[in-house]
Amino acid sequence: MTSSSAPGFAGLWAALEPVGRSSSGGYRRFAWSATDRVLREWFADECAKRGLDYVEDRAGNQWAWWGDPDAAPGQGVVTGSHLDSVPDGGPFDGPLGVISALAAVDALRRVGFQPAKPIGVVCFADEEGARFGVACSGSRLVAGSLSPERALALRDVDGLSMAEALTAAGRDLTGFGPDPAAVQRVGHFVELHVEQGRALDHIGASVAVGTDIWPHGRWRIDFPGEANHAGTTALRDRRDAMLGYADTVLAARATAQEHDCLATIGRVSVRPGAVNAIPSSVTGWLDVRGSDPTAVRRTVLDITAHAGSFGATVVEESWTDDTRFDTSLVRRMQRALGNVPLLSTGAGHDAGVLAAAGVSSAMLFVRNPSGVSHSPAERAELADCLAGVEALTTVLADLAGPPG
Ligand code: GLV
Ligand code: MN
Ligand code: MN
Repeated sequence: MTSSSAPGFAGLWAALEPVGRSSSGGYRRFAWSATDRVLREWFADECAKRGLDYVEDRAGNQWAWWGDPDAAPGQGVVTGSHLDSVPDGGPFDGPLGVISALAAVDALRRVGFQPAKPIGVVCFADEEGARFGVACSGSRLVAGSLSPERALALRDVDGLSMAEALTAAGRDLTGFGPDPAAVQRVGHFVELHVEQGRALDHIGASVAVGTDIWPHGRWRIDFPGEANHAGTTALRDRRDAMLGYADTVLAARATAQEHDCLATIGRVSVRPGAVNAIPSSVTGWLDVRGSDPTAVRRTVLDITAHAGSFGATVVEESWTDDTRFDTSLVRRMQRALGNVPLLSTGAGHDAGVLAAAGVSSAMLFVRNPSGVSHSPAERAELADCLAGVEALTTVLADLAGPPG
C-alpha cells in the first residue's frame, strides 16, 4: 500500500522544483552529473516509500515494480519518463511523466486496485542527450539500438567520456549495455509528457493520446579554417571557418523551408575561441525533423552539400525513423479515455525508442498553454497535470486490470 510518508502530486513536484535550477530559472540536469545523482536518489527513494521493487538495468535506467514482472513474462504495464534536461530546460519535460507515474500508482492504490499484471514505473537515463550528444541514450542502450562501445566513448564539452562520467558517478561498467530481459518485461509502455506545442490549447483539451513521432536526427558539421591575427590578416588572406558555418546556418533554414521540414543549429563550438583570432575551426550541430522521412533526408543531403562547398565534413550522430505507436494500444487508450484527441509530435521520446524495439508503446500529452518547451517558459496548469494523472490512472487500470 501507499506509505503515509509518500507525497502526492504537489509534494512530489515541490521536492523536485529546486533540483538543478539555474539562475535563468531553467534547469541544468545533465546525465551522470552530481545533480543527476540527486534526482536518481530521489526517484529510488520515492519508489521505496511506495514499497515498489526497485531495480536498475544494465544501462543504468531505473525501474520499480508493483507485482513481479518475472512471474508474468512480457506482461508488465509500464509508465514513466526521464528527469534530465536540456541546458536551461523547463520543469515539465520529463519530470511530469515521472511524477505522474508515481501519482497514478498512488491513485490506483487509494481505490484498492489489484493489478492482474505487474505495473512498472521507469525513469530513463540521459533522454535529452544534452551532455554526450545522443538523445535517449539510456533507452537506446537497454534496447540495443546504441552500442555500449559507442556510448561509452561519447565525450562531453569538457572532453570527459561517458565511461569516465559513469565511473565518476560510482557506476560499475561491467556488463554495461543492452538488457533484453529488462525490455522483455514490458508488455505495454505509456509515457506521459507535457505537450511541446499548442495544439491542445487551440482545441481546448487537457490531454491527448500520442500517435507517432516524426523522423529526426542529429548531425555534426566541422568547418575548417586557419587561425590568424584579427588585426594583421588582410580579408583576402583569411581562411575563416566562421564564414562557412554562418552561410550554412542560413542555408539550413532555407532548405528546411523548401522541403517543409525543420532544421536547427542550436549548438556551436568555435576554436580557438578568441575575439581577436580568426576561427581555425567551427563545429555546428544540426537537428533536422519533419513528417516525411524522404524530405528530412533530402534536407540533410542539401545542407551537407552546402557545407561541403566550404570544405566541411558532416557526420550523422543519431537517426530515428518515423515511429508509429501501437495503433491497437492507441485505440484502446482512446476508448478508455472517452475519445480524447490524437496528437503527432516532432519531439523525440523514450517511448519512440521502445516502440522501434517492438514494444507496444504510446504516449499521453498534457496541454501546455505557452506551447514552449526546452525553455524555462514551458508550462502546464495544475488542473491539466491532474487531468493527466487521472488519464494515466485510467489507462493503467485498463491495461493492468483483470481481462474483460
Ligand atoms: C527531445 O526532447 C528531443 O526531441 O530532442
Ligand atoms: Mn526534451
Ligand atoms: Mn522529454
